[in-house]
Amino acid sequence: MSGRIAVVFGTRPEMIKLAPVIRMLGERALVVHTGQHFDDNMSRSFLHQLHIGEPHLHLAVGGATRGAQIGHATVAIEQFLIDERPLAVVVQGDTNSGLAGALAANATTTPLAHLEAGLRSYDRAMPEEHNRVLIDAVSDLCLAPHHSNVEALMREGVAAERIRVTGSTLADALAMIMPQPQQRAQQLTAHGVQRNGFVLATIHRAENADNAANLQAILHELAELPLPVVLPLHPRTRKRAADFGLQPLLDRLLVCEPVGYQEFISLAHESAMIISDSGGVQEEATIVKRPVLVVRNSTERPEILGTFAHLVAAGPQIGVLANDLLARLPEVHAHLEALPYPYGTNATAAVVAALDELTPKERG
Ligand code: UD1
Ligand code: UDP
Repeated sequence: MSGRIAVVFGTRPEMIKLAPVIRMLGERALVVHTGQHFDDNMSRSFLHQLHIGEPHLHLAVGGATRGAQIGHATVAIEQFLIDERPLAVVVQGDTNSGLAGALAANATTTPLAHLEAGLRSYDRAMPEEHNRVLIDAVSDLCLAPHHSNVEALMREGVAAERIRVTGSTLADALAMIMPQPQQRAQQLTAHGVQRNGFVLATIHRAENADNAANLQAILHELAELPLPVVLPLHPRTRKRAADFGLQPLLDRLLVCEPVGYQEFISLAHESAMIISDSGGVQEEATIVKRPVLVVRNSTERPEILGTFAHLVAAGPQIGVLANDLLARLPEVHAHLEALPYPYGTNATAAVVAALDELTPKERG
């Protein structure tokens, strides 16, 4: 394949998982950033650390309402696709930016591939669940990270010919920045914690961050843990914690600004355990071999429940489960150490090979 491929993203996790694809596409990648994430520590540091460089099109939809983000980005990306006429578009995950890229591809009849297709939480309160279903519905190729995603797609009427199981590109992204022991040790010093002597937490889902009772319950549970908790704070959560008057709880945690990717993986590697409502962090737990409490009502990654991940509602169960894991930490770590990464190998090569299939001729 020699034609150009438009790679559309807007948020931190999309930059991470698309970075290996952009690298493998090389000159053929036409990079589009919607600007949904715009702080330097949510955007520029990832463009830099993952060698994505300056996007060909960089919009500024960040901070807008969901409808405005999707609408404005769709219009601008549609025009970009008309002007540049790439061979295909690739989007990743379940964000407003991904949906905008998908709709723009659809509007210009540009073949579309969706990375991380077929994940379902079946929680219709999550905007992400609607975004995923809509993106898969208009995608010409649904690229699934795990074989369990195939069934979900087929139940929604996606024909088998449109599905490929490629694995997740996360392992390839991580390989691009994998910190050496010395870099990991630097992060311990920077945050004043010790190996296996702290909990790493991230909280940003609307269902947790935007709900005062849930956010208070989560921060209270974190503050009561027997180990220090490092909490790189997502901007959504920082704003909400201030709105809800939760600074006294934050004061009991090791709160910091969002950290770079290599720094985050260093911390995850060295932590005793992770507590998070993030999607990507669940997958990373399977690489750094740490247990993760997933503070959610449901997960779109059920295949790791009971091994790496444990689902827990916002509330006292967080403390109960965390204390149970911490009480038998060496045994838990040894058990996870022996489990394989469940999301395949050489996923980026499989994704790029799948993109090869998306020629205009094949669209009939
Ligand atoms: C979005 C995605 C979510 C993903 C997350 C990754 C949707 C519906 N949600 O959620 O699936 O897990 O990104 O982190 O697409 N903000 C800043 N600076 C930034 C970025 C955001 O101040 O750099 C603020 C925004 O102004 C807004 C809030 O954070 O007030 C939420 O941002 P938004 O992009 O709407 O959603 P996320 O919570 O980041
Ligand atoms: N991450 C990071 N710095 C941080 C917090 C998270 O680099 O301070 C990375 C983390 O390693 C993971 C990704 O951001 O790969 C997850 O992003 P997020 O939780 O925002 O989104 P989700 O995966 O839930 O969509």
